[in-house]
Amino acid sequence: MRTIWITGGSSGIGYAVAEKFLKKEWRVIISSRNEERLNKSVKKLKKCSNNNEVYSIVCNITDYSNVKKTIKHIENNISAIDIALLNAAAYSPNKTQNFDLKNYQLLIDVNLNGTLNCIDILKNYMKGRNNLIAVVSSPVGFRGMPTAGAYGMTKAAQLNLIESLYFDFRKLKIKVSVINPGFIDTESTRLNSFKMPFLKSSNYAAEKIYNGLTGKYKFEIYFPFLVVFIVKIMRILPLNLYSLIWKRLGNF
Ligand SMILES: NC(=O)c1ccc[n+]([C@@H]2O[C@H](COP(=O)([O-])OP(=O)(O)OC[C@H]3O[C@@H](n4cnc5c(N)ncnc54)[C@H](OP(=O)(O)O)[C@@H]3O)[C@@H](O)[C@H]2O)c1
Repeated sequence: MRTIWITGGSSGIGYAVAEKFLKKEWRVIISSRNEERLNKSVKKLKKCSNNNEVYSIVCNITDYSNVKKTIKHIENNISAIDIALLNAAAYSPNKTQNFDLKNYQLLIDVNLNGTLNCIDILKNYMKGRNNLIAVVSSPVGFRGMPTAGAYGMTKAAQLNLIESLYFDFRKLKIKVSVINPGFIDTESTRLNSFKMPFLKSSNYAAEKIYNGLTGKYKFEIYFPFLVVFIVKIMRILPLNLYSLIWKRLGNF
């Protein structure tokens, strides 16, 4: 039986991925900060399949020693990790467009420092094993977008980081992948006040992520194709044209 560790596995995309892997006979470990919510999620997961190999560990990814203890516990007492899905993140859209330093610092701490903490410790266990570290980033990181400065900046940094590690971790025999979902209906996106185009369910995302992570190795897993493809094209538009699109879309 293979093992996946999912950060931010108590809700949204992370929870749906946990359910999918569990049903496919994987050993699943979910982590997040809120113990009560984690316990509820594990109870729910146990009911959805006959596979009882599901565990939860409270882990705040911004706390290096907490991450170290968690990974050590999994590796020594549960199983070696085959896939680490670094999915936990904070999200807070800046609807007022006011520059809010605290919000930038919070998102850097969770989305960037938290991800780095996990990678730093995982690499010591995973080297030489051909395991996979997959980071859930976002197409919001492809280009600066109005109201998304803090979140987009952290997601852009994740994309850049994982692309670098694609080369650097080859030497360690650790595979890395990046996942770029379009709009998925979760607690985070319910904070958005605009209509989200091509909004999909977290089960849809889980299906795509499961297929992407367990099929032939892919550096980038993205979905739905059309929406992410459009954002990829927007990346190469000259700023004048790009700015015109945002003016039309939301008078930015
Ligand atoms: N939903 C979308 O449309 C969308 C699109 C593109 C990319 N993404 C990315 O997909 C991932 C999951 O997003 P989601 O929409 O499913 O979000 P979500 O439902 O809000 O889930 C976020 C998860 O992260 C956990 N978390 C937050 N801070 C944490 C911390 N410091 N340490 C450990 N766990 C922490 C939360 O649990 P606790 O609060 O209990 O810790 C929760 O389980 C994120 O990386 C997000 O950027 C989402």
